[in-house]
Amino acid sequence: MSKLSQKHLLGIKYITKEDINLIFETATHFKEVLSRPIKKVPTLRDITIANLFFENSTRTRLSFELAEKRLSADVINFSASSSSLKKGETLIDTVNNILAMKVDMVVMRHASPGAPVFLSKHIDANIINAGDGTHEHPTQALLDGFSIYNVKGQLKGLRVAIIGDIMHSRVALSNIFCLKKMGAEVMVCGPSTLIPNHIESLGIKVEYNLRKALEWCDVANILRIQLERQDIQYFPSLREYAQVYGVNRKILDSIKKEIVIMHPGPINRGVEITSDVADSKQSIILEQVENGVAVRMAVLYLLAGRMEVASQ
Ligand code: CP
Repeated sequence: MSKLSQKHLLGIKYITKEDINLIFETATHFKEVLSRPIKKVPTLRDITIANLFFENSTRTRLSFELAEKRLSADVINFSASSSSLKKGETLIDTVNNILAMKVDMVVMRHASPGAPVFLSKHIDANIINAGDGTHEHPTQALLDGFSIYNVKGQLKGLRVAIIGDIMHSRVALSNIFCLKKMGAEVMVCGPSTLIPNHIESLGIKVEYNLRKALEWCDVANILRIQLERQDIQYFPSLREYAQVYGVNRKILDSIKKEIVIMHPGPINRGVEITSDVADSKQSIILEQVENGVAVRMAVLYLLAGRMEVASQ
């Protein structure tokens, strides 16, 4: 069986189209395993994984933990709020103390862009980036791409619009890298203050008009306004943002085709998306969450470098 080209998953930027295809192929197998009455396989029985979350998470943390347990790994969980970081311990000291407990893989979320890359230069364990500041969130992009692939059959040639707070979103950057590598056309849409200068240099389109973006795309991935990362005011009010960039039933009904609606969560209902859109048949938001477990099982399995997927 083929292996990933990298020892770590630090970002989609560092992996190849072949890696992504291999992850999708392996995730398809694990998706089938997860539909069985007995969902657990012994694949990572001798592997110990530490989930180090220095920043809040619901979906990613639970999804990784479930993926690890479905693969029979031993799991330890660390959360910054209840740790000795509060007593002044450095990141390297914290991680080295955890690794002294014979940990093989580290899943890490951190508020600082580049924290997983920094860590990879100091420790031997495989590292998976579970989101580093405004930089990358590779497993989110992989589960988003896998979810589109499951609905549409392929990514090549598809038009995907990423709508919202592009500036502060690690999901946007990882999605752009993933979708471009897989041959999709990508557009970003949002207020000009929330779109980074020169983002076109990544080979994508920029649109400031929501209706035009929705008319152009086959799939709309709608992102949350990341107020916690905004130190200045980028738009007048959330109410005005919802009026101009909120995806609602009325605007979708006025588009001549049915587009697939995605959102990585957490959702701010009534701001970037209304409930009647988020909960509609067009939305694959909960499929994204479901696929996240299979995709993370695939990443863990492939990074562990095992030769065969257990079949029981
Ligand atoms: N999509 C995502 O990363 O959600 P969490 O912040 O809850 O992990």
